Amino acid sequence: MKKRILSGMRPTGSLHLGNYFGALENWVKLQDSYECYYSIVDWHALTTGYEDVSTLRDNIYEVAIDWISAGLDPEKSVMFVQSDVKEHAELHLAFSMITPLSWLYRCPTYKDQLKELKEKNIATYGFLGYPCLQAADILLYKAQAVPVGEDQLPHLELTREIGRRFNHLYGDTFPEPQPLLTKAKVLPGLDGRKMSKSYNNTIALSDSPKEIEQKVRQMTTDPQRIRKDDPGHPEVCSVFSFHKVFNSDVLSDVEYQCSSGSIGCVQCKKSLMQKVVAYMEPIYTRRMQLENNKEYIREVLHEGAKKARAVASQSMEDVKQKLGMCYE
Ligand code: TRP
Repeated sequence: MKKRILSGMRPTGSLHLGNYFGALENWVKLQDSYECYYSIVDWHALTTGYEDVSTLRDNIYEVAIDWISAGLDPEKSVMFVQSDVKEHAELHLAFSMITPLSWLYRCPTYKDQLKELKEKNIATYGFLGYPCLQAADILLYKAQAVPVGEDQLPHLELTREIGRRFNHLYGDTFPEPQPLLTKAKVLPGLDGRKMSKSYNNTIALSDSPKEIEQKVRQMTTDPQRIRKDDPGHPEVCSVFSFHKVFNSDVLSDVEYQCSSGSIGCVQCKKSLMQKVVAYMEPIYTRRMQLENNKEYIREVLHEGAKKARAVASQSMEDVKQKLGMCYE
């Protein structure tokens, strides 16, 4: 029997290569060895984005298209929208009864985000409960493992604590999910900072080959390299960081040519460009097919929700039983 895993992504807009190499590429690989549940967590998006919901619906579609074009296969994985399965909200409420406030206040992501998103007014009940909702996502499916990045470890720790507390109070119910950490490939943004939509330095999964070429052309390189035959410093160059991911088989050549000044940045970018475009081409082609086929996306999400509900409703029945809420 395959182990079950669950992971989630917030629908906050189209995904970029940082997201792809940070998580999605790995999710695609996991499909063959695990029973996979992947959720578009729209309730979580509301915790920080409740003031403007005008783009939420489109963003949900966008993520689904990104997922499928990147290789998530509806025949292998269950893909669903969190709010389509009402048990997430229900279990979240149950967990909110037993989760001490102190656990939530001390969560590092809570403190960081409050500071970072000052203008957003997220000092809300819902945002404080973010990890409670995430615990519900995971435990509802009794997932044994959760593929996440390191930034999510505090949430996973809280998930285990909440599950343990439930088990202690009402009897053994939930397994303890383990993180499934992969060494994420780190891609910087086009300007060398972290790739992020708010820095406007991303390559999106939805970018066309033309757009990709243009963006690679704009990438910043070693600032000390002025003339073409100046020796370069690959370790400070974002183009070289991209070569590491897209051109690893000839990496030492690229490194030598740069640091000996035998090829210029323009040419170095050209060879990178070809690699990136070739890699992204099938993703782009699939997207072109999907974009005109909303009906298919809707169908995938419907079917996914049905499968998710089948598991979630059983867990929730068990939970209600244990809480004394079944009176028949
Ligand atoms: N908090 C996660 C993130 O920001 C998203 C998420 C929500 C999640 N529910 C989850 C991840 C359950 C893994 C499992 O990336």
